[in-house]
Parts: sequence; structure tokens; C-alpha cells
Amino acid sequence: MLRRLAADQPASFAFTPANLEWARGQMTKYPEGRQASAVIPILWRAQEQEGWLTRPAIEEVGRLLGMPYIRVLEVATFYFMFQLEPVGSVAHIQICGTTSCMICGAEDLIRLCKERIAPKPHMLSADGKFSWEEVECLGACTNAPMAQIGKDYYEDLTVESLTRILDQFAAGERPVPGPQNGRYAAEALSGLTSLQEFESGKAQYNASVERAMRVGDGTKRIDGTEVPLTMPWLGKPKVAAKAAEPKPAAKPAEPKAAAKPARAAEPKAAAKTKAPAKAAEPERLTAPRGGKADDLKVIVGIGPKLEAMLHKLGFFHFDQLAAWTKADLEWVDRNLDAFKGRAVRENWVGQARDIVKKSK
Ligand code: FES
Repeated sequence: MLRRLAADQPASFAFTPANLEWARGQMTKYPEGRQASAVIPILWRAQEQEGWLTRPAIEEVGRLLGMPYIRVLEVATFYFMFQLEPVGSVAHIQICGTTSCMICGAEDLIRLCKERIAPKPHMLSADGKFSWEEVECLGACTNAPMAQIGKDYYEDLTVESLTRILDQFAAGERPVPGPQNGRYAAEALSGLTSLQEFESGKAQYNASVERAMRVGDGTKRIDGTEVPLTMPWLGKPKVAAKAAEPKPAAKPAEPKAAAKPARAAEPKAAAKTKAPAKAAEPERLTAPRGGKADDLKVIVGIGPKLEAMLHKLGFFHFDQLAAWTKADLEWVDRNLDAFKGRAVRENWVGQARDIVKKSK
């Protein structure tokens, strides 16, 4: 397919201060003189800011990375993930038209897009709110036919469900992504045939949808209003640290009425560990405050089994996890046996802090 820049281009492009800081942070991931390696994430950021990749944005990325304009243009025109023409202000619908989706009804979905949005791909709808295109396999073939809308996947689609989804977007709502036919994830349509023991502890949505619903930025443009981005390999930049990190000294507030539960006894698993550092032990409880524990399963990566283990260790509330320090995390790691490394890898502390922040 011939991919050209749009005929009508804006006069200029500038990253928002937050996005510029993020872009500069990306450049530091690479050795001196190899900053051009950051071209794809920075082009993507520009697209996320504007909705599509403009010529001034491509030029600006070239300037930032010290790359000739033509080199950046080559990248932008090669990869189909870069939108070279304006997309709908509300949503750009990417219908998968590859084998599984085609067999399961993608053509009907494309027909709907033609009728409902615009007769041709990459054309804006009359109200400028929507655009569409056909894309190659998006790797969700077991849930065919499907479409990517913004950052989210909408799966097991029919003409009826896609119509409803478009109606919801048009009304300013946020349709729930994931399977649209009642499936939880990618299990057999007739129900689970394995791993059935997990069904009882099933969360409302599968893990991908759960996270998409919690983050809630599927079709949001990147505009600098997001939670400040951190660049762990640079330490903690001032801007990010200020907004994202609660005061490390602040202990989770105890409800006044409830007497402070005593510290939990050292779990058996800890006895096996070589040298648990006494000073680095996190604050633990013998029982949930007010008799009611928070639903720790809301945190991505914590399932019913891990939640039970955390309870056993004396953790029942988001604010407890939010207050974990690096040393605390090491203690938790030592006591989570087979799940060592999960808390850091899945950023439980960051997730818990977000939840605590939103609940205030
Ligand atoms: S064929 Fe559509 S997601 Fe793979």
C-alpha cells in the first residue's frame, strides 16, 4: 500500500512539556550517539499527543534525535501503526481483516464501517468523530472477529455489538473492551474445560479488560495531564517524584475508632529464609481494620491465591501495600516463595498508590 503524508498539514508541532521530558528520557536509554534508536517510541508519543503523525511532528522528532528528516519519514511511512492522516476525534476503528477474523465475519464489520463511518478507510466521518481502516492480524484470533479501538481490543464482535460500541463512543461513553459475546477471555465458547478451579475466584473482567477499565485511557490523547511518567533508569526525576510518590514517611492512616491490631506473628515461611532483616520488616496487621479487608485482587497480578498469602502475611489494605519501601519489598519477596519478584515486576506498590490516591 502506498503510504503518503496527508495533503493538509498543520503549520507546526510541539511536544507538551511533559511529553518532551518523556521523549528526552527515552533517548537516555541508548548509548551516546545511538539516540536515533528511540525514534519509534518518540514518533508514537507524537501520534498519541495529536491523534496522527503530522509532517511537522516527524520533522520535530528528527530535530530532537539529530536524524535527517528522510530517515524519520522512512520509519513513519514503513510502519502501519503510524497514522499519516487525521483520524476521528473520538475513535479510530481498526478492523482485523486477516484469516480468522475474515472467516468469522470481519467483512460484515467492514461493511458496517463503510456505511456508518465513511465509504473508504482513513476517511473521516461526516461529524469528524470517527475513522476506520482494515489491519492485519492483531493476535487475538481466538476471539475473532475483533477490532482495536485506541489502546483496547474489542473481541467476538458482530455487526450488532460493533454498532452498539460505536453508539456508545458517539454518546461520549466508554464501552467495555474485551469479548462482546459473554466470554470471559479466550476459553471455549461452551465454557471452561480446564483451570476450572479458578472460576470461583474470577474477577468481573479478565486481566486485560480489568486493567483497561481501571486505566480508562483507551482513546484518550496524551496531553500531559497523565500521572507523571517515571524513568526508573534515571532515578526519580523531580517532577515525577513530586506528583507520583506519596511521602515515604507517612504511615497508612488508622481508623480512629478501631484499636490498632497487634503485629502479626512471623509467618512460617519466614523461618526458612536465611536472614530476614528485622529493620526492613513492613508494617503488618493481625486482622483487617474494621473487620473488612480491601479487595487486593483489584491489583493486576494478585489473584485469589496471592491475596490469601498476603492476608496470611498480615496485609489486608491498599494503603499497606502503597507504603512498602524497597526494603519492605525485599521482605515480601522473601516470604512469597514461588511468587518472588512479582510485586516489583507488576508494580503492586504503584498500583496500590494509584488506588489510594483515587479513593481520596
Ligand atoms: S486474524 Fe484477526 S486477530 Fe488474528
